[in-house]
Amino acid sequence: MEPQITEWVALVVRWMHLVFGAAWIGASFYFNWLNNHVRKPEAGRPGVAGDLWAIHGGHFYEVAKYENAPERLPDTLHWFKWEAYFTWFTGLGLLVLVYYLQASTFMVDRGVMDLTPAAAVGVGVGTLVAGWIVYDLLCRSPLGRTGAPFAAIGFALASAVAWALFQVLGARAAYIHVGAMLGTLMALNVFFVIIPNQRKAVAAMVAGEVPDPRLGQGAAQRSLHNNYMTLPVLFIMISNHYPFTYGHEQGWLILVALGAIGGVVRHWFNLKGQGVRKDWLLPLAAAGLVLLVVAAAPRRSAWADTPVPFSRVRAILEERCQKCHSATPTWPGILTAPQGVVYDTVADITRYAPRINAQVSTGVMPLGNVTGMTDEERDIVTAWFAQGAKTVDPAPAAAAP
Ligand code: HEC
Repeated sequence: MEPQITEWVALVVRWMHLVFGAAWIGASFYFNWLNNHVRKPEAGRPGVAGDLWAIHGGHFYEVAKYENAPERLPDTLHWFKWEAYFTWFTGLGLLVLVYYLQASTFMVDRGVMDLTPAAAVGVGVGTLVAGWIVYDLLCRSPLGRTGAPFAAIGFALASAVAWALFQVLGARAAYIHVGAMLGTLMALNVFFVIIPNQRKAVAAMVAGEVPDPRLGQGAAQRSLHNNYMTLPVLFIMISNHYPFTYGHEQGWLILVALGAIGGVVRHWFNLKGQGVRKDWLLPLAAAGLVLLVVAAAPRRSAWADTPVPFSRVRAILEERCQKCHSATPTWPGILTAPQGVVYDTVADITRYAPRINAQVSTGVMPLGNVTGMTDEERDIVTAWFAQGAKTVDPAPAAAAP
């Protein structure tokens, strides 16, 4: 496909992914909130576990939640599944368009491991498949019926996947595959467990039987897991805007830490909804974040105290970046400057200086370090930025008397 067409297709698919994802997570948050806020109805209604009143958009609503199932199946029963499936399909589409079709640039980092593009894609797809198999087995094992032990082991396994992917793929691809794996667990939970269990419950009711409460409980277990995965997954989906996260030398640890912080915040929300106030969880999450910011500070440039000549920076950008980032790129497959970022003139370089610094200090650019930028060159560019991104060479030192 022509690159400019691929980019348009990627735009539309990304847009759809965002819309479906908002619908899915919005519904998930809403039902979770409902679950936590229904209260025992005043007049006893058979089978009703709780109900609540709400006002929204100028209308009053009353919702009742049943312990197991109502006595009679209503004429219209609304299901929620397409938003989950479409989020997953469009996500997979993006993964193919952005990563798999451009695997040599976006998946492989020769400084990490010299994989062929096909092998890198294999690692990516394998992670999604193996992730589901292991998770599903765990859920069905006795461990799956526990709360905290399951959470601890699940978290440790997901962290191990993050670490392992960092040993094999480029950092950005490693991040997105942890997110894609968790997103896949969430979507397949809906497809393989939640919806089938609901179907069986409805079929039992049609047959005039009372549905087995274990069906509802099994679906609720997966739904709870999905609930805890939402915040970490959402972070990973926006992480490619923040190269200081995945581009850090210990990027996988940053991912693990942010995942834990997201999980703690979600836990606080859930408890609060159930009327359990553990408000110390929020300062704990905030303290974790502060610690992370301090621990992840970038390393000091060896050139920090040496005035950097601009001509040196310009030569580095020309050699390492401009093959792609130019109005007339020469890198094969790059037709227009990626994200419009060009370094052709001094004004261009000044305009993009903060973004140059962000990309170079974290090692994210050049992509997969295809142009072979050295650590010393990174130190020079980051020191130049720290010294005010001047576009003139420093005056020669005054001659010694
Ligand atoms: C092999 C081609 C290639 C080379 C060489 C390259 N880049 Fe990029 N750059 C890209 C692509 C592709 C993107 C778009 C990534 C995306 O879509 O997220 C990009 C995006 C960027 C962005 C925008 C990202 C943002 O969010 O701010 C900046 C800034 C950037 N590169 C800086 C650099 C710098 C600095 C260098 C040299 C040290 C460099 N690039 C070398 C291909 C390249």
